[in-house]
Amino acid sequence: MNTTTKPNRLLLALMGLLLAILLIGAGGFMWLNNNGDGNAALGIGGPFALENGDGKPVTDKDFRGKYMLVYFGYTFCPDVCPTTLNAVADAMDKLGPSASRLQPLFITVDPKRDTPALVKQYVAAFGPSIEGLTGTPEQIAQVAKEYRVYYAEHRTGTGPNDYSMDHSSVLYLMSPIGAFIAPVRADQSGDEIAANLKKLMG
Ligand code: NI
Repeated sequence: MNTTTKPNRLLLALMGLLLAILLIGAGGFMWLNNNGDGNAALGIGGPFALENGDGKPVTDKDFRGKYMLVYFGYTFCPDVCPTTLNAVADAMDKLGPSASRLQPLFITVDPKRDTPALVKQYVAAFGPSIEGLTGTPEQIAQVAKEYRVYYAEHRTGTGPNDYSMDHSSVLYLMSPIGAFIAPVRADQSGDEIAANLKKLMG
């Protein structure tokens, strides 16, 4: 009897182990799937109506056919925005011919101060590749909401212009049909951003 029960127990144990592995595997797969769906459900990005540096209306549809690299910031930003835009301009140089498939966009979160002319002048300082966009406070609020961007006025004094803007600092890579592909870390060098983009744009 012992000779038959022992292999059976072993078999049962093995089957139990196999089942456990399958369940863990399925769980992991479902988790990954949910993560994928989660991103889609988050729906980062979406239609926007803004103004370009010439004060002309511009929408997300004007950039169809090109990848968009979307960044939110403001021209009075003391350090993070200029560092990021420098890196983006550098990444565009490093991308070589692929750069023609990508449009970096700088969308201000400070529409009160960032007029079209100011935004245009600001991005031009980093090179010819970045397009600066502004809009009414309502338009900016709308696009920031779509991109899940946080921004808030931070008072530094009592005067009307005595404030800085707290804002999230992420580069969003969007596909040529305007769908969210991936976030790209904004605190990287131009080389690193270019390497990320090359992988993501294929
Ligand atoms: Ni900034």
